[in-house]
Amino acid sequence: MEIEPTPHRVPPRLERLEFGRADRVPDRIVCGDAVEEASRIEEGALDAIYIDPPFGTGIVRQGRGLRYADRADDPEAFVTWLTPLLEHSRRALASHGSLFVHLDYRAVHYVKVALDRVFGREQFVNEIVWCYAVGGKSRRGFGRKHDTILWYARGLDWAFYPDAVRVPRRGGSHMRVVLDGGAPVQEKTDRKTGRVYRYPVADGKVPEDWWIDVETLNHSDRERTGWPSQKPERLVERILKAVTVPGNHVADWFAGSGTTAAVAQRLGRRFVTVDREPQAIDVCVARLAEQGRALAQDGTPPPPIVVARDVHA
Ligand SMILES: C[S@@+](CC[C@H](N)C(=O)[O-])C[C@H]1O[C@@H](n2cnc3c(N)ncnc32)[C@H](O)[C@@H]1O
Repeated sequence: MEIEPTPHRVPPRLERLEFGRADRVPDRIVCGDAVEEASRIEEGALDAIYIDPPFGTGIVRQGRGLRYADRADDPEAFVTWLTPLLEHSRRALASHGSLFVHLDYRAVHYVKVALDRVFGREQFVNEIVWCYAVGGKSRRGFGRKHDTILWYARGLDWAFYPDAVRVPRRGGSHMRVVLDGGAPVQEKTDRKTGRVYRYPVADGKVPEDWWIDVETLNHSDRERTGWPSQKPERLVERILKAVTVPGNHVADWFAGSGTTAAVAQRLGRRFVTVDREPQAIDVCVARLAEQGRALAQDGTPPPPIVVARDVHA
C-alpha cells in the first residue's frame, strides 16, 4: 500500500544581516503571505501596524523593472480577503496599540465599515487625508490627489505622542501675530468668552488630519527604489513617531520596498515586515542593509535582521 506523504511546511531559508549588535533580538523580513504571517504574531505583541495593501485596481503595478499584480477590481472581494488580516492585526496589537490602513477612493468606504466591525466604531481615531499634487490631471472632474489612511486603536487608551510630530505654524492664518519678549506669538480672542489664546510660533503645532506637507515621491527622488506604489518615508515617519517610542514593535504586512521597516530601523523601533513577492524582499533587504551599514558607521548600529525566504516553497 502506498503511503501518502505528510504535507509539511518547508523550513524557511534564513539569512542574517549583522551591523555590529549581535546581542539584540533580530528584526524580521519575511517572504510570505500577509494573513498567514500576521496570524503567527503573539497576542498584544505590537505597538503599531501600518499597512498599504494592494488597493484592488485589478491592474499590474509596474515600477522600474519591478512589478506586482494588484487584486481584481472587486471591492466586496477585497474586503472579504482583508477582514481576517484586520482581525489578526487587532489581536496582535497591545492595548495601547494602533493600526493604520492606507487606501484610496476605490476601497476606503468599504474598508472603513469592515474596520468599524472588527475594532468597534468607538476605536476609530482619525481618517488622515494625505494630499499630493504629482501625477496626471483630470479633464472630467477634480484631480484625484489624495489617499486616505484610516487609524483605529485596539483600546480606548491609545498611545499618542503629539510633541514628536509638531510642524511649523503657518503665517496667513486668522490669528494675529504679536511679539512676546521679541518672540512671535499667534493670538486669538474668543468672541463669546473674551478669553485670549496664545500660541508661540516657535513651538509649532500638532498637524490636523489632512496632510499637505508630504509630497509623493518623484522619479528622481533619492528614496526611490523602483518598487511600484512606494510611499515616502516622511509619511510613515510621522505615523510611527505619533504612536511609538524607540524600542517599540511595529509591523507592516505589505512591505513592498520596505518603507515602514526602513523608517523603523532609522528611528530605533523594532520591526517585522512581510511581502509575498521575492523581488520585494530583495529590494527591502538591499535598502535595510545599506541603511544599517550607514547607521553602524555613524556609531548607532541597529539590531540584526533575519530574512526568511521560501516560507511557502
Ligand atoms: C502598495 S504595495 C506596498 C508599498 C509599500 N508601502 C512601499 O512603500 O514600498 C503592496 C504590496 O503588497 C504585496 N502583497 C500583495 N498581496 C500580498 C499578500 N497576500 N501577502 C503579502 N504581501 C502581499 C505586494 O507584493 C506589494 O509589494
